[in-house]
Amino acid sequence: MPEILYGDLKIHCEPGANLREVLIAHGIYPHNGQSRYVNCSGSGSCGTCAVKIIGKITPLNIKEKSRLAVPPHSLSNGLRLACQIRVENDLNVIKYDGFWGHEMPENED
Ligand code: FES
Repeated sequence: MPEILYGDLKIHCEPGANLREVLIAHGIYPHNGQSRYVNCSGSGSCGTCAVKIIGKITPLNIKEKSRLAVPPHSLSNGLRLACQIRVENDLNVIKYDGFWGHEMPENED
């Protein structure tokens, strides 16, 4: 069973589970501020569920490529959309500041 580390929290989920849905089911919203209420509900279009993931995940799908190519995101910063990730392996998930979660510390960009 894959383990998700989110800050100090450890969550286990079924292999193949949707990362955003797993987090929300455990009371963790991968959205900052008002984006918790104003988002696309996981369709991959708003970009507000962007997170950094350390661990083995599948390559960007077409929805992620499309949304993450549009500012304030950038395909070069390595963020991923939690709503498009299927959890197959242990992951460390980091949420950054900003409406879209895109405000990475300068040394991590
Ligand atoms: S919830 Fe909108 S892109 Fe993930």
